Amino acid sequence: MAMVIVFGSLNIDLLMKVKEQPQIGETILTPTYKWTTGGKGANQAIACSRFGAKTAMVGKVGDDGFGTRILNALKRDDVLASGVVRDDKEPTGMAFVTVDSKGDNQIVVASGANRLTTSDQMPNEILHSDNVALMQMEVNYSENWDVIHRSKAVGAKTILNLAPSGAVPREVLDDLDYLIVNQIEGRQMAEKMGLEIEESAIALASRLATEAQLTCVMTMGPLGCVAMKPDGSGWRVQAMKVPDEEFGDTVGAGDTFCGVFAACIFKKMSLQETLRHASVAASLACRGVGAQTSMPTHDEVIEYLEEIPAAEAI
Ligand code: RIB
Repeated sequence: MAMVIVFGSLNIDLLMKVKEQPQIGETILTPTYKWTTGGKGANQAIACSRFGAKTAMVGKVGDDGFGTRILNALKRDDVLASGVVRDDKEPTGMAFVTVDSKGDNQIVVASGANRLTTSDQMPNEILHSDNVALMQMEVNYSENWDVIHRSKAVGAKTILNLAPSGAVPREVLDDLDYLIVNQIEGRQMAEKMGLEIEESAIALASRLATEAQLTCVMTMGPLGCVAMKPDGSGWRVQAMKVPDEEFGDTVGAGDTFCGVFAACIFKKMSLQETLRHASVAASLACRGVGAQTSMPTHDEVIEYLEEIPAAEAI
């Protein structure tokens, strides 16, 4: 069956609102906290499924109550979760998320069972040329690389969201169709590749696209995003303005972008329309608190699509 396969992390997020992020050595108080299901992999799978693409998740949780809640959340959102294995050697991954009064966040992830995720959890039988494989960087890199090689070998489309940033070997880049980074991750990648660090997002994305011979998508928060192809052509899309009174936080906005991007590629939409839908979805995800809790459905994205103009050619 053709589908988007998300290979990656699943966490429980502990969300705490703080006035300002703590300094080194400082203890700060906040009245309460919320916990939600999260993890870049699971978030992206849920965003993708809410956008109407058949989606499967492959990863690991611990053999604990948190793992059960994560599996239930995936099922509630119609994500096929048979590829999520429970492992009793490590607890379910846990993320400590602090959101300050400007809505900016800092996250520490204790990987737990995510560290034990292996590429052989993804059997060859589910690899298919019509599939899209979507990865992030919260599981062991070598397992990601194996999934990318095997997916590419059957002709599937491959997408890597380089979050958090890490070095990607040349032969892995050769098998990637799309690389999604924010500006910080893009700069770090260029540094690791020994490239000149371009100031503008377009120049940086273009440099990475040419060097790695793939389509580089760079997200820029409230400034929208660009996608550059190896031949130097590309598209720019604005972000939708979120009214102050509706703004919650940016947690999971990047994941929403990636999940909807993968869903649009799966649906064979053009790159410019893919960017526009992903950008609107990411803005809508800033309206509530937490990641999965505020991700939009397909119909909501369509309802707000006209809020931003069509993609502009670069
Ligand atoms: O991108 C947001 C996610 O990063 C959170 O859900 C947290 O679990 C971390 O993986």
